Amino acid sequence: MPVVISLLNSYSGLAASAAGFVIGNMVLILSGALVGAAGLFLTMLMCKAMNRSLANVIFGAFGQEGATAGGGPTGDKPVKSVDPEGAAMMLAYAQSVIVVPGYGLAVAQAQHDLKKVMDNLEERGVDVKYAIHPVAGRMPGHMNVLLAEADVPYDLLFDLDEINDDFGQTDVVLVVGANDVVNPEARNPQSVIAGMPILDVDRARNVIVMKRSLSPGFAGIDNPLFYLDNNYMFFGDAKKSMQDLTKAVREA
Ligand code: TAP
Repeated sequence: MPVVISLLNSYSGLAASAAGFVIGNMVLILSGALVGAAGLFLTMLMCKAMNRSLANVIFGAFGQEGATAGGGPTGDKPVKSVDPEGAAMMLAYAQSVIVVPGYGLAVAQAQHDLKKVMDNLEERGVDVKYAIHPVAGRMPGHMNVLLAEADVPYDLLFDLDEINDDFGQTDVVLVVGANDVVNPEARNPQSVIAGMPILDVDRARNVIVMKRSLSPGFAGIDNPLFYLDNNYMFFGDAKKSMQDLTKAVREA
C-alpha cells in the first residue's frame, strides 16, 4: 500500500507539471516535476528494499492469504518460550544486545518502554545497539521515527548493511514485533520472499522474539526462526511484555 500511495503521489506531481505546460506556468511545471521525481524515487527505493519489481508489488500475490510457498505450514513444530524473568536474566547478563524493532512495536506503541529496558541494560554495562531494516514497519523511516520519539540516541541505530556482520558475535537479539525482516526463508530460492535482504538474527547466540503468537507477518509466510534451538518466543502484546520486562530487568 505505501508503494502504491507513493506512486500515485508521483503521478499527481507529473499531472501538475503537465497542467503547467498547458497553461504556461513555470512554477507549476517545476514544482510538479519535483513532486513527480521524488515520488518515483521513493517508489523505486521501497521496491529495491523488498527486492521486488514494481509490477510484482502491484499485481503479485505477496501478502495475500495462503501465500505460504517456501514457508511451510506451522504444524506442531515445538517452540521454546520464555517468561519476563527468564528474558530479563538473559538480557541483564549479556555483554551485547541488539534490538530489532518491527511493525508490532509500532502497533503496540512500545518504544518508550523499550527505551526504559535498554537504559537499564546500558547502566549495567551491556553494549546495546538497534538494527533498522529498510522496510521494517509499513512505511519508510517508520522505525527511525518511533525510536526518535522515545529519545533513542541516533548513534545507536544501525542500518542492515552496517550491522548484519555483528549478529554472529552478539549474545542476545531482542526482536520486537518484527517478522518478515528477520525471516531466514529469504535465503531459500523457492520462497516468495527469496532475495529480500534480511537481518541475520538467527546467527546470534540467543534470540528472543516478542510477539503475540506464531502468526505470519505482512508476507503471509511462516518463519523458521521461531523453531530454532537458539530462539525463545516471548508471547504477548509488545507494550505489556515490555512493561513486564522493565520490572523483571530491574530485579534481575
Ligand atoms: P511484519 O512481518 O508485518 O511482522 C509484524 C509482526 O508484528 C507480526 O507477525 C505480528 O505477530 C506482530 N505484532 C502485531 N501486533 C503486535 C503487538 N501488539 N504486539 C506484539 N507483536 C505484534 O513486520 P516487519 O518484520 O516489520 O516487516 C515489514 C513487512 O512490511 C515486510 O514484509 C515489508 O516488505 C512490508 N512492507 C514494508 C514497507 C515499508 S516501506 N516499511 C512498505 C510496504 C510493505 P503477532 O500477530 O503474532 O503478534
